[in-house]
Amino acid sequence: MDTLKAKYLTGIANAADESALEDIRLAALGKKGEISALMATLGKMDPDQRKVRGAALNVLKDEIDAALRAKKAALADAALDARLRAEWLDVTLPARPRRVGTIHPVSQVMEELTAIFADMGFAVAEGPQVESDWYNFDALNIPPEHPARQEHDTFFMHRAPGDNRPPHVLRTHTSPVQIRALQTLGTPLRVIAPGRVYRMDMDQTHTPMFHQVEGIAIDRDISMANLKWVLEEFCRAFFEVDSVELRFRASHFPFTEPSAEVDIRCSWEGGQLKIGQGDKWMEILGSGMMHPKVLAAAGVDPSQWQGFAFGMGIDRIAMLKYGIPDLRAFFESDLRWLRHYGFAALDMPDLAGGLSA
Ligand code: DAH
Repeated sequence: MDTLKAKYLTGIANAADESALEDIRLAALGKKGEISALMATLGKMDPDQRKVRGAALNVLKDEIDAALRAKKAALADAALDARLRAEWLDVTLPARPRRVGTIHPVSQVMEELTAIFADMGFAVAEGPQVESDWYNFDALNIPPEHPARQEHDTFFMHRAPGDNRPPHVLRTHTSPVQIRALQTLGTPLRVIAPGRVYRMDMDQTHTPMFHQVEGIAIDRDISMANLKWVLEEFCRAFFEVDSVELRFRASHFPFTEPSAEVDIRCSWEGGQLKIGQGDKWMEILGSGMMHPKVLAAAGVDPSQWQGFAFGMGIDRIAMLKYGIPDLRAFFESDLRWLRHYGFAALDMPDLAGGLSA
């Protein structure tokens, strides 16, 4: 029995896999196995001898059985270890960037300016792109005979034959949102309104559809000084420079009094535009104090409230900031252009994390 025990325990210890183990189990404990055969001889023994031999055989059988189980568990553990080693992966590695499209510079700039103005307490308002001529013109102090109507190169919608009401227009600027925001939100008010606008115009710097952002701040004592600070703060944050210099040039808009066009100091060196320094000026927006008639048209008492307004071309400041030469390419959906000038889809601009980083 000692010889048997040594043979099987050594065999078990050296078994390389489960099937080798199974062979050993069958050879020892199977129906035709060696231990089973010895068990079968017990019947022919006399009772005393049987008792001694039987007990010893049972101990041997249990020992082999236990060794088989232990080895089986050890093999399974080793197999799991090997698999875990083979399938190891470092979950702390940064994800591989997979570009699912890109963000268009116009969308990027809209996100950027929304973040900047939100930081200064401005909410975002919207209005329809198909607008009534009252909102687009009359309410903004541009009556039907006003020359500004011609300057806007307006697209008109069709009316049904016989319907003689003035036709709706594709809004020519975001200024009608001034009226809509005041009507729905009332005073005091601080909103910007980015969006699409339309004019019949097409050359290197004009497309029939383009983007503007309107801004208004209305309270009891808003002044041009507030306008100047807000615009300077915006330009510094937007162009990501330490200092900017703005020039306010007297101008005229029907919906503001006084009115000013705003230029930003810049330089052109070797075809490279630099914002904030140099001896050139670039016009970037129109602005002024909201005309009393505009406040009144929106149902606001101009003897109680006053505010500033500004309107800025989004495509234009996108071109300036990101050095994009031709406006028309913005809307041609050329994938090579989009991949070159686009932004990573999952990077949201915010003031703390960097606008365009
Ligand atoms: N609506 C003007 C345009 O499209 C831009 C503008 C100028 C908007 C002055 C304003 C403003 O709010 O105060 O040309």
